[in-house]
Amino acid sequence: MATASQRKTLVARAVQAKARAYAPYSRFRVGAAILADDGTIIEGCNVENSSYSLTICAERNAVFQAASRGRTRLRAIAIASDDPEFLPPCGACRQVLSEFNPAMEIILTTVDGRTKLTSLARLFPMPADLKKLARPRPVKRK
Ligand code: THU
Repeated sequence: MATASQRKTLVARAVQAKARAYAPYSRFRVGAAILADDGTIIEGCNVENSSYSLTICAERNAVFQAASRGRTRLRAIAIASDDPEFLPPCGACRQVLSEFNPAMEIILTTVDGRTKLTSLARLFPMPADLKKLARPRPVKRK
């Protein structure tokens, strides 16, 4: 659980990250800020590409940046955009968030400063159980 003050900071950091969005094609800026178990906050923004499908969402960018810095115990994420409605993470981001904490807290925000607390357990209730693939398995040779 993030504290009320940590949640507030996460929201502010997600808004800051949004300012760095690279979104010349959609012009839809998104920022995310993740709280790791050790208290570190890692930000991410969406980064688009002229080959549209290579675009990465802010949420996934933040998760990958966290993992790259050795943070894989993730407690909470805040997501900010310029939309007057809440922006829940897309399906691909839910899967990626789930890798590091299927019960992660999710703080949704609107451009006019409303917030809504939810969780990945609620938004992504039945993740594929693929972690078993990480177990060593004997390789059968012909
Ligand atoms: N986007 C995000 O970064 N996060 C979301 O949750 C939804 C969509 C980005 C991807 C793309 O750059 C732009 O928003 C429009 O889809």
